[in-house]
Amino acid sequence: MPTKRRGLFIVLEGIDGSGKTTQARNLVRRLRRRGFETSFFREPTRGRFGREIRRLAVRAGSATPARELALFVSDRKENVARNIGPALEAGRVVVLDRYYFSTMAYQGAKGLDVGRIRRLNEAFAIAPDLVIVLDVDARAGLARIAGRKRRDGLFEREDYLVRVRRIFRGLRGPGVVHLDGRRDRRAVGRAIWSCVEALLPPRPRMSLGGRLRSPR
Ligand code: TYD
Repeated sequence: MPTKRRGLFIVLEGIDGSGKTTQARNLVRRLRRRGFETSFFREPTRGRFGREIRRLAVRAGSATPARELALFVSDRKENVARNIGPALEAGRVVVLDRYYFSTMAYQGAKGLDVGRIRRLNEAFAIAPDLVIVLDVDARAGLARIAGRKRRDGLFEREDYLVRVRRIFRGLRGPGVVHLDGRRDRRAVGRAIWSCVEALLPPRPRMSLGGRLRSPR
């Protein structure tokens, strides 16, 4: 883990349709309004490995679980080195939509060993300060995304999401918080904010122990 890191690192996780992307965007807006310099990233990224992942995802079954795992890990290594690490070193708040907990859950649900996936990632991944797992059942998640442009394939089947959710629900570790994602959007937003607020200095300019830099 880098010693120069001064920012705050927040990850949002959950199955497809759990609402994490909406909540992540709202959280970023809220942090910026309060004067915190905030970076927002997502995985898979828009980099070369992320593009390859999305290309494979539209053609169901075109990659083995091991190949998927390798691509997600390569994508993440690049994201940590180019985006997450530098932002944290600059003292920014980083909000990340999906991280290696998604790999544990999604590739684990395809039969790969969850503990091995975790170790593989923790060998290089910067540890988040907070991991919020938004929990909704697979059917509710699928119902929420039904209105979006439908891509058949890899990631969106109910039986698969049931297994993905089971792994997410079993996640334990420092900073891991499970929240009920079935409540209305604003209630979930408030619950997320109270977890985040507890980690922030009272005002951006009053950086606690030099953790966070003052705003522009
Ligand atoms: P996401 O960006 O959430 O979906 P969208 O393309 O609709 O914006 O992620 C795409 C899929 O990738 C999602 O179903 C979860 C899956 N995924 C994994 O299987 N493993 C991983 O490590 C990550 C980060 C995502």
